[in-house]
Amino acid sequence: MKSNEWIKRQKSDYYVKKAKEQGYLSRSAFKLIEIEEKFNLIVKAFEIIEFGAAPGGWNQVILNTNPEAKITSIDLLELKLNHSNINFFKSDINKFDYSKFSKKFDLVLSDVAPNATGHRSTDHLRISGLVFDIIYLFDKILKKNGSFITKIWKGSEEKKILKILNNNFDKVSYFKPKSSRKNSSEIFLVATKFIK
Ligand SMILES: C[S@@+](CC[C@H](N)C(=O)[O-])C[C@H]1O[C@@H](n2cnc3c(N)ncnc32)[C@H](O)[C@@H]1O
Repeated sequence: MKSNEWIKRQKSDYYVKKAKEQGYLSRSAFKLIEIEEKFNLIVKAFEIIEFGAAPGGWNQVILNTNPEAKITSIDLLELKLNHSNINFFKSDINKFDYSKFSKKFDLVLSDVAPNATGHRSTDHLRISGLVFDIIYLFDKILKKNGSFITKIWKGSEEKKILKILNNNFDKVSYFKPKSSRKNSSEIFLVATKFIK
């Protein structure tokens, strides 16, 4: 999408306006609000990690939903949010040293997304690569019975991702929030009860 088209879309978008009015740092915040309304996972989690957390809309949703939660966030870009419950690491998720964590998490969230090229299958492969990278970390970072919520862009790798999740979790569900643009291939996978 050309940058002038993007600016036009942002100006007229209902959720962009709503995010501004409600003080959210991203329009994505509403997607996590909808996911939580359906699955109630944040409210039950104490230790949460988010991959691709900047500017910080999802972190705000977590803090509003469960003020006790301890959040670990990783992004290439700076988080525009400072809070004593957030431990932020500015890093590529693939270059981060996960052995430095002395704990595992109840809930792993990923809203990570590469810069879109506009070429659907290329973008799909790139985001899928990041999702696989996170999945391969589960033994190090996810507690038994923990949950995983991830954005994917639909495409050829989706079945492989789904298969791995189905083999490692008790239940896996698809969810398309109303706040996710209808013409976008974006969809969320919600996997509960990690089987170790
Ligand atoms: C859709 S945004 C996340 C929005 C965030 N959930 C929020 O509500 O504010 C996707 C993020 O993924 C991050 N990202 C993309 N590739 C990454 C990588 N390899 N390592 C770390 N972060 C990455 C981008 O910098 C971007 O901030």
